[in-house]
Amino acid sequence: MYLTKQEECILNGEHGEVMERMFRLLVRLGDIYGADAMISVGSVQVAGVSYKSIGGPGMEFLEDMASKGAKVKVLTYLNPAGMDLENWREYGFPKDFAKNQLRIMDAFKRMGIVVTATCTPYLAGNLPRFREHIAWSESSAVSFSNSVIGARTNREGGPSALAAAICGVTPNYGLHLWENRQPTIKVTVDADLTFNADFGALGYYVGKQVKNKIPYFTGIKDANTDHLKALGAAMAASGAVALYHVEGLTPEADLVEKKNLETISVTQKDITETYKTLNTGKKPDIVIFGCPHASLREISALAEKLEGKRLKKPVWICTSRMIKEASERMGYNEIITKAGGSVIADTCMVVSPIEDMGYKTTGVNSGKAANYLPGFCKQDVCFATIDDLVEAQS
Ligand code: F3S
Repeated sequence: MYLTKQEECILNGEHGEVMERMFRLLVRLGDIYGADAMISVGSVQVAGVSYKSIGGPGMEFLEDMASKGAKVKVLTYLNPAGMDLENWREYGFPKDFAKNQLRIMDAFKRMGIVVTATCTPYLAGNLPRFREHIAWSESSAVSFSNSVIGARTNREGGPSALAAAICGVTPNYGLHLWENRQPTIKVTVDADLTFNADFGALGYYVGKQVKNKIPYFTGIKDANTDHLKALGAAMAASGAVALYHVEGLTPEADLVEKKNLETISVTQKDITETYKTLNTGKKPDIVIFGCPHASLREISALAEKLEGKRLKKPVWICTSRMIKEASERMGYNEIITKAGGSVIADTCMVVSPIEDMGYKTTGVNSGKAANYLPGFCKQDVCFATIDDLVEAQS
């Protein structure tokens, strides 16, 4: 890989131990994937934030980096942490867990990272532009930024994203290159898609079929950004789809080459079957919305459904701190709390320790959450639309 004189100096340790170590990691990655050079990134999103995911060794690594003076060069956000960073006591997060989680956040803050923890950074102040190179980690955020915004990122691991943040560059390979952003399979959809859960089911089904290919969808008549985030999140979870195009809806769909593609089709029956497949539980003892983190529109919809109701069992909606704040001002949090629900920031049902908080069956409207909850959180899952889940808890 071509390195500039300044980059050679970094590798020779002239910019300190941390820079050398981080830059070496990026060079190794670039060599493995055949990158021609480094490219500047406009922003970074770092995964590996929850104490549940990284444990003691991860926490000590981050504290070591911070104490050695590691500092990020570009706007850097974090993936969800293991708890609501302000209201963790109120929601019953374990004290020992909280102590370690706060140590992790402190280390990130000392490195200059914005300590807002969300998988929807694009809704919370970190919005890349079309064709901007970025280095993001969380699979749904990667999918959304590549597909819906048209920014360019590979799916970074926690360490490679941190290295990109500290060095301000990433190796130029994979989805940073136009030739690798072309669709590799066509997916024709003939099904009614109304709820987020319908898009989640579609994403789960297609992800299973196409694995890590780049789908080009036809037949999706309309979808808002919440629907697309649900679709992309589920495809990235059940498969490894980091980029998709939707005819008439996503920005690169008109620009890519779509001749002679292998084609698969999705029918209403496939969607109905997927709902059945994802339902492994009978009655939820908690319902959690907000995977990926809820937008203000999604919180507003939940508030409308809960107004005047009294929930029998817990309902959480997970979101970013910024959206929670806006929701507070709009009075949605009050409506949801009055009904017995909670608007929880900074975390989600998968990276928080819900299995240690006494929950066994979780209701979700997210194909991604339904995919991960059994393995990551030992949960049975009730996968349904927002209407059916609210009904189940009322
Ligand atoms: Fe986000 Fe957690 Fe879902 S990180 S995409 S809410 S599993």
